[in-house]
Amino acid sequence: MRILVHLSDLHFGRVDYSVVEPLIEKVSELKPDVLVVSGDLTQRARSQQFKEAREFLDRLPKPQIIVPGNHDVPMHNAYARFFKGLNKYRRFITDDLEPFYSDAEIAVLGLNTARRFTIKYGRVNAEQIAAIRERLCAFDDDKVTKMIVTHHPFDLPEGGDESELVGRARLAMETIAMCGADVLLAGHLHVGHTGESSARYKIAGHSALVVSAGTATSTRGRGEPNSFNVLRIKHPFINVERLSWAAESNRFTPSSTEHFKHTPDGWTRVPDEMAAEITYSDEKTSVPPTDS
Ligand SMILES: [Fe+2]
Ligand SMILES: [Fe+2]
Repeated sequence: MRILVHLSDLHFGRVDYSVVEPLIEKVSELKPDVLVVSGDLTQRARSQQFKEAREFLDRLPKPQIIVPGNHDVPMHNAYARFFKGLNKYRRFITDDLEPFYSDAEIAVLGLNTARRFTIKYGRVNAEQIAAIRERLCAFDDDKVTKMIVTHHPFDLPEGGDESELVGRARLAMETIAMCGADVLLAGHLHVGHTGESSARYKIAGHSALVVSAGTATSTRGRGEPNSFNVLRIKHPFINVERLSWAAESNRFTPSSTEHFKHTPDGWTRVPDEMAAEITYSDEKTSVPPTDS
């Protein structure tokens, strides 16, 4: 089994500091095999905000797969936007805009979808689609769960604004399907959500599990408390648990748990009554139960 913790939209500069220490504590306790941060680390791409984000990341488990979001490119200073772009992100967070992690059970590829020519929207380009092919296609579909991390999402909760979708998604989905990619992790919406890609992209024999994370630390919650996701992966199963901030107990507690299974048509939801039969833990890994 592998444990992946998925944080997003930290927005240092607009952070609720009361959630930061409990978040670090909870994530550390989960002992993830990999930590994902799907963009918007800062509110305005200022040095001080990146510095705070850097200090926060230094206190969290590694390895980390981090991608930038639209807020990590300077917004209001046109000169900085066009000529400096992600310079501060590269300086304080990471110079690697295509981070990759793999082991015997999972492969995780991060792609930068933030663009300096557009303030809010994002997209994938031809080189990134080639990177999906190079990095993920070779892994054995029956052994390795293949995941892609972007800031802008490939799918939306019901009623979502289609302009928030990552640009060139349909083109990328063809390669994603061809390489048997299983899970698409994203942020940007500030809303926790899971879905199946086949609802939007009709590709025979393929349906990726689409997972959006809410904002882990910012005050920009769009009606939801701060939250993050924990994925427990044991092929052919994945459990997506959302942990949400409970102000009354001052900690992150489980607010939803969903189980998915890989079938010949792709990833499909396991009904709750059958989920109890699934065992995720194995002898090598002891999983502390998330407290309620
Ligand atoms: Fe955001
Ligand atoms: Fe964003």
